[in-house]
Amino acid sequence: MELDQLAALRTPEGSAALAAATEVAGGDPLTAAAALRATGVPAGLSAAALTQAELRRRAVGKFGPEAAGMFLTRAGLEQATRRPVADRRAARLRAAGVTTLADLGCGLGADALAAARAGIRVYGVEADPVTAAMAAGNAEAAGLAGLFTVQVGDATAFDVTRVEGVFCDPARRRAGTGRRIFDPNSYSPPWDFVTGLAARVPRTVVKVAPGIDHALIPAGAEAEWVSVDGDLVEAALWCGRLAEVPRRATLLRGDAVHTLTGAGATEAPVGPTRRFLYDPDPAVVRAHLVAELADTLGATLADPSIAYLYADRPTATPFARCLEVTDVLPFSLKRLRALLRERRVGRLEILKRGSALEPEKLRRDLKLAGDTAASLVLTRVAGAPTVLVCRPVPTT
Ligand SMILES: C[S@@+](CC[C@H](N)C(=O)[O-])C[C@H]1O[C@@H](n2cnc3c(N)ncnc32)[C@H](O)[C@@H]1O
Repeated sequence: MELDQLAALRTPEGSAALAAATEVAGGDPLTAAAALRATGVPAGLSAAALTQAELRRRAVGKFGPEAAGMFLTRAGLEQATRRPVADRRAARLRAAGVTTLADLGCGLGADALAAARAGIRVYGVEADPVTAAMAAGNAEAAGLAGLFTVQVGDATAFDVTRVEGVFCDPARRRAGTGRRIFDPNSYSPPWDFVTGLAARVPRTVVKVAPGIDHALIPAGAEAEWVSVDGDLVEAALWCGRLAEVPRRATLLRGDAVHTLTGAGATEAPVGPTRRFLYDPDPAVVRAHLVAELADTLGATLADPSIAYLYADRPTATPFARCLEVTDVLPFSLKRLRALLRERRVGRLEILKRGSALEPEKLRRDLKLAGDTAASLVLTRVAGAPTVLVCRPVPTT
């Protein structure tokens, strides 16, 4: 999308085209385009309106009903923070006393809008002019233009002495190709600049990929991993005065928030497999808080390098899923097939950690038949490939 197309979408004629596009989006794109053209919308405006309507539809999962009024790009939407995650971060910043914030590389403004909703005055800086104009449009649509303004430019040139806090969510996709960047040194703004912010602004937060190497976490920073309904979505580094603990796992499930904290530096004890297996949430695993969780459950690992925990009792916890282990077998397709046949298992969930087996191939090879359900865990126990047959235990 070009700036003039965005400007056209923001005229009364553009709004009408967007409303019409919303009605027809979601089905066959050619039929939708023809339907829109038939109402007299010019071709260029029709294409831009349909793209927006389609992106808004996809954005509902991230932003909820507010998506209906937002301006979006594909790349911007992919990189944008989900609303519940952005809202939580904004609330924490506000609670820490931040009333003015620079968002350095604000994208479409998902984080900045959340901060503005929390009552923080946000100065957004965005290098891409179309994305910046969309962010400004999003602020206006949300009624937050008085609290969130955007300037086009290089974030590294922003005078951070003007603000009490800084947030930076560097681009982790290459402009143009959209390809993911895994090396933080290739982030934009550059990693050196991003990590150097903490020395300049005592309240700095940096959003990073959840797969970040722990060795890259700056000394003294709090690293937080966030999952939403069991999916790991991001990590954030809370620096300077904002750091409260070394490591934090934050689990957002529906309206509930669960937080586990700790040093993230200890190893859980190792023992035999036991009757109950716990599969920790990915935020707990990535935060290296499995030992802390094991402590609360009286649980042990069965292999020092695999994050399944085992205990004699089921304990209700939001931080892990609990399964009851009915059988422990060294991996053998023949034995496993025979056992599942004997149990008449026709529905099988397959979990794995530390196993090279391909679950879908295994499922085909097992030739399941029957009317009962089971969970299979493919893992290693004391280094040996092992299969655990399990059944669910309600724990939360
Ligand atoms: C990951 S996105 C930000 C997403 C945003 N936090 C959200 O949730 O909507 C990063 C943005 O930084 C912008 N950017 C990258 N390098 C920049 C720089 N040096 N100065 C300003 N903006 C930059 C990119 O154009 C991109 O829009």
